[in-house]
Formats: sequence, structure tokens, C-alpha cells
Amino acid sequence: MEKPLTILGIAGSLRKASYNRGALRAAQELVPEGVQLEIFDLDGIPSYNQDEEQNPPSRVSLLKSRVRAADAVLFATPEYNYSIPGVLKNALDWASRPYGDSAWDGKPVAVMGASVGPIGTARAQYHLRQCFVFLNMYPLNRPEVMITNAAERFDGEGNLTDENTRRHIRALLEALAKWTQHLAEGRRAAVSRA
Ligand SMILES: Cc1cc2nc3c(=O)[nH]c(=O)nc-3n(C[C@H](O)[C@H](O)[C@H](O)COP(=O)(O)O)c2cc1C
Repeated sequence: MEKPLTILGIAGSLRKASYNRGALRAAQELVPEGVQLEIFDLDGIPSYNQDEEQNPPSRVSLLKSRVRAADAVLFATPEYNYSIPGVLKNALDWASRPYGDSAWDGKPVAVMGASVGPIGTARAQYHLRQCFVFLNMYPLNRPEVMITNAAERFDGEGNLTDENTRRHIRALLEALAKWTQHLAEGRRAAVSRA
């Protein structure tokens, strides 16, 4: 049997009933055949301190190893003040260091996000995509999943109840799986040509 393709899901919220955490739980149920989505919670990651990057906290080392072991990453980001939340930027920074030892390098990545407003995290998602440039991640361009008016689409525990949104997430997962396979085939072809 072929090894399943693994996606690591990371939500930029620590809130118990977080819509973004809920969107990732829904994604776990919606993955296509042959794909498995694991979730890494950002709880317990301290503030980045460059003095500690040669000997990082154990939770940071775990994050880096989980990112490295995954075939692709899926971020579910809230929007805070028109950008990404500090907990998510903090995790991106930790796992990108020390210089030359970034866990994100060359990783296929997709983004989705839920907010209570009518723009559905669009501004935060484009800030996040800007980080992918220096991190040398390979972002899936489309579909974009911007979950607007989240309070109407999730229940009180943060479970996604809206069928239309579930269809969008399913399409995103299918596209991310294809994108990841496409990049892996390109890498194998480049190795065999070398
Ligand atoms: C500090 C802070 C800033 C926020 N800024 C925005 C914003 O710029 N745009 C927006 O649509 N919602 C904003 N919100 C509301 C979030 O969409 C809402 O809190 C959402 O539930 C966060 O995602 P979560 O449920 O995954 O924690 C903000 C919330 C907080 C706490």
C-alpha cells in the first residue's frame, strides 16, 4: 500500500472554540483518499528569542520536526488588525531559525482563514503569503478559502456546520494534494536528470 500524503495543519489561534481550529478539524474529515491531515497546536510556544535559537524550547524542536516530516502544510489563519496573529508569526519565525536550518524551506503550502467580518481574512492571508517568499515555501494559489461571517457558519464549539464552506475546503485539499504530488514529481525528475 502506498504511503499516505501527509499535510500538517496549523491554526493561528489558541482560542478553545476557535473558528480556525474548527476549520482544520473539518479539513481532517474532508481529506481526499490517500491523504492524512495532522494538526499541530501552537499552544506552549514561547516568544521568539534569538539568544535561544541554538538551543530552542522542546515545543519548537517538535514543531520543526513535524513540519519536516509532513509533505505539505495547511495554515488556517485568523485576521488580527488586518494581519496575521502574533502566535502564528512567532511560530513561523522560530521554525525558520537558526539561519540555514529553516523547517519551511521548499514546503508546499496552502492557506485558509475564518473571521467574523465580511472580508474573511483576505488581508491576513496576503500578509502570510508575503512571508512565504523569504521562507521559500511553495504556495498553492487557488482556490482561496476566505470564510466570512464565521459566527453564522460554525457552532458554539467552533465546529464547521456550513455545507458550502465544507465544499470549498474539500476543493482546497484536493488542489493541495495535486500541487504537492506535482512538485514531488518535478523534484524526482530533476534528480534523475542530474
Ligand atoms: C486582536 C484582534 C484583532 C482582530 N482584528 C480583526 C481584523 O482585522 N479583521 C477581522 O475580520 N476580524 C478581526 N478580529 C476578529 C476575529 O475575526 C475573531 O476574533 C475570530 O474569531 C478570530 O479567529 P478564531 O475564532 O480562530 O480565534 C480581531 C480579533 C482580535 C482578538
